[in-house]
Amino acid sequence: MNALQLLQEKNTLKVIGLMSGTSADGMDAALTEITGYGLQTKVKALGFVSLPYSDAVREEILRLASGTAGGSRDLCLFSFALGEISLQACRAVCEQSGVPPEAVDLVGSHGQTLYHVPAAVDYLGHAVRGTLQLGEPSVICEGLGCPVVSDFRVRDMAAGGQGAPVVPYAEYLLYRRQDQSVGLQNIGGIGNLTVLPKGGAPEDTFAFDTGPGNMVMDQVTERMTAGKMRYDENGALAAQGVCSEALLRWMLQDPYLKKQPPKSTGREDYGKAYVDALLQKAQELGVRGLDALATACRFTAVCIQAAVEEHCPVRPDCLVVGGGGSHNPTLMKEIRRVLSIPVLVNEDLGFDSDAKEAVAFAILANECIHGAANSVPSVTGAAHPVVMGKISL
Ligand SMILES: Nc1ncnc2c1ncn2[C@@H]1O[C@H](COP(=O)(O)OP(=O)(O)O)[C@@H](O)[C@H]1O
Ligand SMILES: [Mg+2]
Repeated sequence: MNALQLLQEKNTLKVIGLMSGTSADGMDAALTEITGYGLQTKVKALGFVSLPYSDAVREEILRLASGTAGGSRDLCLFSFALGEISLQACRAVCEQSGVPPEAVDLVGSHGQTLYHVPAAVDYLGHAVRGTLQLGEPSVICEGLGCPVVSDFRVRDMAAGGQGAPVVPYAEYLLYRRQDQSVGLQNIGGIGNLTVLPKGGAPEDTFAFDTGPGNMVMDQVTERMTAGKMRYDENGALAAQGVCSEALLRWMLQDPYLKKQPPKSTGREDYGKAYVDALLQKAQELGVRGLDALATACRFTAVCIQAAVEEHCPVRPDCLVVGGGGSHNPTLMKEIRRVLSIPVLVNEDLGFDSDAKEAVAFAILANECIHGAANSVPSVTGAAHPVVMGKISL
């Protein structure tokens, strides 16, 4: 039997999920034990680590993700370097959970998104869409000695989808309920919402990016503190500011808010150029830094409100927040203030807010090695379900 058949025969697998989001804060690794696949999937969390990136790695990610810096040499080296960091994260989560690395059966790795073009642009006379995630899976495969599934988004894109949001199938397997429509709001660099209508099938799921999550707040914080802080820890700075209604009105003109799903966004929309324009506007309006930060915080909450109240064909009965933004009490307070439904965090359901996305890639990888479709065309806009992920053996 080959390595793939061996995995398919085994009923319970130890699977590591790896995720590095648009915040470029670090490599997350979740070690799970997965039994079965498809609707029978059972997941047990064994451990979680997040390896923070050095300033140099983070700066390189932001540079390469700008879309106009770095050449083929940089992309080549970056991919292998991130493969190495991914491998370190796998080893670290094994050590933390007391599981020997040889016992790991499978890894699902998202990699780092460097560029995402969901709407066609004219390129070389072709109408082209695309997405690029790097973090060489062969390096992980060689170092850990088990199969690795990676590069999840591209297959959905080839089928006409946006390649995003990518985790709703895994969320369906873990969070669906018969008695409630569940809203899952992840707040990473970007915010994204998944709604699992009560008693629904996978194709009833809908999901889309709500707009910026922490990305704008992070950049405003970094600039206000001359690079000393990467983010507003526990929302302490935003809590000292007051939201500027004038600046908020400017932010609310954002066409993304009005756009109908399926829709996805990223650093292309809310990166340096956006924050340059925001801070320029703040200056014109005489809005000081702390107030600009409080306004950006309110804006993230209002984007979530617009998503829940204007773009959901089925309104969720509750919102379960995950991702780093769930640790920002000032943001959580704003979200609870603007929404009329109960707002929980993953911990309220016995899950880990930080591990959630990484766990999802373990689940998606498990589906992939069984040849099972793990995309949700109703959320990405693809023509049909596909098996997302490429396997390195
Ligand atoms: N204690 C905290 N207080 C405020 N914000 C936090 C805290 N912990 C994490 N964050 C925010 O979460 C972000 C990282 O979230 P994460 O879910 O890893 O996003 P991504 O998936 O984009 O990497 C940080 O950049 C920061 O904005
Ligand atoms: Mg992160």
